[in-house]
Amino acid sequence: MSIQTDQIQSLVERRAKARLGGGEKRIEAQHAKGKKTARERLAMLLDPGSFEEYDMFVQHRCTNFGMEASHPDGDGVVTGCGTIDGRLVYVFAQDFTVSGGSLSKTVSEKICKVMDMALRNGAPCIGLNDSGGARIQEGIDALAGYGEIFERNILASGVVPQISAIMGPCAGGAVYSPALTDFTIMVKNTSYMFLTGPAVVKSVTGEVVDQEQLGGASVHASKSGVAHFAADNEEQAIDNIKRLISFLPQNNMEQAPFKETSDPVGRIDDALNSIVPDNPNKAYDMYKVIGSIVDDGDFFEVHKEFAKNIIVGFARMNGRSVGIVANQPAVLAGVLDINASRKAARFVRFCDAFNIPLVTLVDVPGFLPGTQQEYGAIITNGAKLLYAYGEATVPKVTVTLRKGYGGAHIVMSCKQLRGDINYAWPSAQIAVMGAEGAVNVLYAKEMKADPENASKIFEEKKKEYEELFSNPYQAAQKGYIDDVIEPRNTRFRVIRALEQLSLKRASVPAKKHDNLPL
Ligand code: HXC
Repeated sequence: MSIQTDQIQSLVERRAKARLGGGEKRIEAQHAKGKKTARERLAMLLDPGSFEEYDMFVQHRCTNFGMEASHPDGDGVVTGCGTIDGRLVYVFAQDFTVSGGSLSKTVSEKICKVMDMALRNGAPCIGLNDSGGARIQEGIDALAGYGEIFERNILASGVVPQISAIMGPCAGGAVYSPALTDFTIMVKNTSYMFLTGPAVVKSVTGEVVDQEQLGGASVHASKSGVAHFAADNEEQAIDNIKRLISFLPQNNMEQAPFKETSDPVGRIDDALNSIVPDNPNKAYDMYKVIGSIVDDGDFFEVHKEFAKNIIVGFARMNGRSVGIVANQPAVLAGVLDINASRKAARFVRFCDAFNIPLVTLVDVPGFLPGTQQEYGAIITNGAKLLYAYGEATVPKVTVTLRKGYGGAHIVMSCKQLRGDINYAWPSAQIAVMGAEGAVNVLYAKEMKADPENASKIFEEKKKEYEELFSNPYQAAQKGYIDDVIEPRNTRFRVIRALEQLSLKRASVPAKKHDNLPL
């Protein structure tokens, strides 16, 4: 054999060894936990044959606690780039088979390298996390590594989409990198996110809680909102990433990809003309409206289990990505509370950062009153949504279906927050508050002074108020609503509005950065 053949043979062998990470036994242990390896995950995520790996031969430099005895090639992470549906993405997948995927200085250098490339080349960065956190043997070096990753997460924020999948443990400061990214996807029963694990919780507060209850996928998807998606298994988590990517542009200078559709622009849906019940206190399902107006009824919901009184997610209208924000009258009457405001504000800001037009469907009775909400800072949190809509410069098309009361009407992409096209259905009621509440305030004295006729006064005044305000025409007369449309035409009207706005230009005054209420 020639020297060159030997060299090539040695490369092939080295690569094969590196691909085994921590070795066969640890791969088996990984599988026994119901988890896939870093490389198996990347193979599911990327187009076949598209993965270009970097830093396969990087080794850790630690000499503490016996670490000098073992130097697995690649250390605890697999990094590189590839394509999803032909579009470039940068990836890192932590390898639990090497020191539990813990973050050494070299692991962080590998991750930072692909993050830098993603930023420089304008492509999304996807992290598959499965790690025991900072590599304990490395001490401050590992912590510094996290700091370097966080800084890059921050600099890349709003420039390239960043997506985190949590596919194993994610503890301590390690949870902050996912929290800094745009979307977090967790896998039920095998992934956890917490600042401190159950043992520390017990020793500090006495609370007894297991990993799943403390930081499992269901908890973060429904209670804390830290996770945007909770997948049943790893395959589903990877599918979610791919689907998400399909709606997004490569970076903030690009438009989301166009997807051909056979769904006619002018498709009318007569069912929408009768979807709003006569009784304003009766609910209906906003998902039906969304499904009816978007291309092929295809809606990719974000934060499905969290703050269900508002719905957010991606869809396409005439082939173009849109962000849908919609109150859900079927949950808490669609009221805005702290979590709903936070959820929608974050989504609106994401869409604005990445040139995705916003379609807002309004049926909101107001903000949720009470001490729980006030003590939890509904003022600041509600202001987040207000702020997000007000600063957004992407095309904003709003349709008020029924209630648009008070501050909540203003918050939900009204004309004065630079809403571009604001439609209302004939069933819309755009007012300071509902008729009953208004009469109780305005005629309290009269009703108290004349208890015998109180209900008559109430009914009369309620009717008067309803005639004046329980319709869209006061707002339409003043130009706050651009047109009152037939519900069945909503798809067509929204698409036509979006096409009109496709070359929209708007900006905010020059500033270092804004001061979003946090
Ligand atoms: C070095 C680690 C490690 C770590 C795990 N390992 N975590 N090595 N540093 N942080 C090693 C284990 O020693 C073991 O090696 C192998 O990885 C597999 O771990 P197991 O414990 O056998 O696996 P499992 O039972 O599945 O438990 C996984 C785990 C547990 C829950 C993640 O390992 C664990 O609690 N690890 C420590 C978590 C932690 O406290 N991390 C520091 C967080 S503080 P061997 O060779 O024995 O198989 C932090 C600060 C960041 O991250 C701050 C940023 C600002």
